[in-house]
Amino acid sequence: MEQLIFDAHAHYDDEKFDTDRDEIISSLPGKGVFAVVNNGVDHETSLRSIAFAEKYPFFYAAVGIHPESVTGMDISYADTYIEKIASLLAHEKVVAIGETGLDYYWDIPKSEQHIVFEKQLKLSLDTGMPIIIHDREAHGDTLGYIKKYCPKGLLHCYSGSCEMLKEVFRYGNMYISLGGTVTFKNARVPVEVAREVPLDRMLLETDAPYLSPVPNRGKRNDSSNIIYTAKKIAEIRGMSVEEVLQITKENACRLYF
Ligand code: NI
Repeated sequence: MEQLIFDAHAHYDDEKFDTDRDEIISSLPGKGVFAVVNNGVDHETSLRSIAFAEKYPFFYAAVGIHPESVTGMDISYADTYIEKIASLLAHEKVVAIGETGLDYYWDIPKSEQHIVFEKQLKLSLDTGMPIIIHDREAHGDTLGYIKKYCPKGLLHCYSGSCEMLKEVFRYGNMYISLGGTVTFKNARVPVEVAREVPLDRMLLETDAPYLSPVPNRGKRNDSSNIIYTAKKIAEIRGMSVEEVLQITKENACRLYF
């Protein structure tokens, strides 16, 4: 089977894979998966991402600090946390910083999220490593940082509007990734975004184990499910599934490799 699926963002370190992780991951190339970027959310999970990348040839690692990981962090040591992440970037299979970003859905101190996110943006600029950004209900401030730093990277599981997208592309060398939400029954904005986003800026992702596309919505997600997201996008754009997979794979290779 031709391997055309590039999963731009996943978390196979999640405990939902504890019972059968190796079995699932090993099965992916046979289901058309070409590559997976596993994302850390703190130092420990970043190390696990690297361990997967060392074990599985088609796995790559992103290393970073997620806004939810800011909870419980002593912010006066923020530089130390960032240095620990920075020290991982030289590894040959680390392809990005992430995931990081802003999350206003959960009750996490905003000022501390900003400190940790901004330090990772600066690290991305200093090192030339792309940055993977999580933006949950924080569109205005996320866009503010993109305007300020003009980063190269990925807005993962993009949930903003088409208008915001124009600004994102004007200021940053940015890509967006679309996941299972585009297949959901009441998806309006994600469908609009899938129709409007320039083809050379679109990636596909799972955010596994979360956000499985229809018909597997609610179940544990894995990279083979990207075929359903690709089918939906092909329908929206009037393209073939193979074209969608091929183009998004090329885009991901351009961003990460
Ligand atoms: Ni994620």
